[in-house]
Amino acid sequence: MRAPLPAAGDGARAQLRRATSRHVPSLSAIQAPVLGDLERVRQELWRIVDDDSPLIGGVNRHLMGMKGKLFRPTLVLLSNAVAGRPAPLATTLAAVLELMHVATLVHDDAVDHSVLRRGMPTLNAVFSSQISVIAGDFLYLRALRELARLGDLDALRVLTDASVQMTRGELLQLTSGDPLEFTERDYEALIEAKTGSLFWAACTLGALCGAPEHRPALSRYGLRLGMAFQVVDDLLDYTADQEETGKPSGLDLRERKMTLPLIAALRTMDSAARGRVESFFAAETSTDGDIQEIIALAEAHGGLAYARHRSETLAQEAEEALAELPPTPARGALYDALTYVLERRS
Ligand code: IPE
Ligand code: IPE
Ligand code: MG
Ligand code: MG
Repeated sequence: MRAPLPAAGDGARAQLRRATSRHVPSLSAIQAPVLGDLERVRQELWRIVDDDSPLIGGVNRHLMGMKGKLFRPTLVLLSNAVAGRPAPLATTLAAVLELMHVATLVHDDAVDHSVLRRGMPTLNAVFSSQISVIAGDFLYLRALRELARLGDLDALRVLTDASVQMTRGELLQLTSGDPLEFTERDYEALIEAKTGSLFWAACTLGALCGAPEHRPALSRYGLRLGMAFQVVDDLLDYTADQEETGKPSGLDLRERKMTLPLIAALRTMDSAARGRVESFFAAETSTDGDIQEIIALAEAHGGLAYARHRSETLAQEAEEALAELPPTPARGALYDALTYVLERRS
């Protein structure tokens, strides 16, 4: 699973590319053990958001037409099947969780001023940021209404805990003060809250209704996998094209968000390079050239390699949690999901 740590400096990006050319399990291979259930998750999504209002109908059609990876529902279903006793309830819980994920994306894109998601214009670009705020709330509340209908208090507790953490993470990101003072420790707390929490919830929910005896191991796996997923997302923001990710490249820097590649690189920068980063963060506007320059500085100072290494150690921790599980096809897919998360380009 683990790639050798690329050396810092000019060759780091090339080495990252080479690392990604190794055999990587495809998303469809990971989803294979739960393919039929994933189709039912799609139907459940439509059922849960269905509404007669023409505006909400338009918003729903736009959102449901945006094809996401359904990675979190996949984790719910695989975790649920890990002991060979999958429960039908997991399909509905996976849909509820995906809906909460989509709600956070709708809010996140409005907050991040992003115009592209899943290769399509965002809701804020097509409608408005105001509509995104309310539509995100609508999705959250439909998800909660479904949980109330199910009457499963444990599931409600897991998903509301995760939502609270995600909201804290998104708020922390907006209010974290001087980006140059944002430490790796702050970053770890941020990604645990904004991304790790929902992956934790996905695996915990799956365990709840199909493998309660494996809940601690699956919860641990989900949290670490989610954090690795976000570190890779932050790397892809620097290194991937928008044709691959379906999201604008370089957006984190355009929005003046400090992420791990630059946090790590700053530690090895001399005062001239650091000064350049400081003036970038102080400027009101930036060009594509400015962003490329900061990415090149992060790369040259070992930041991409450092973040890559951190994603691997997080995945390693997730992998250790899987050792306790029985050797089912679902566990095999959860192993493959680790490599997929590290090597994905979208
Ligand atoms: C995007 O998640 C949000 C992050 C935590 C980085 P995904 O990359 O899973 O997005 P979709 O659901 O496939 O669009
Ligand atoms: C993760 O952060 C978003 C959420 C957890 C809601 P990002 O802002 O990096 O996610 P993308 O890149 O927009 O998908
Ligand atoms: Mg964003
Ligand atoms: Mg991102």
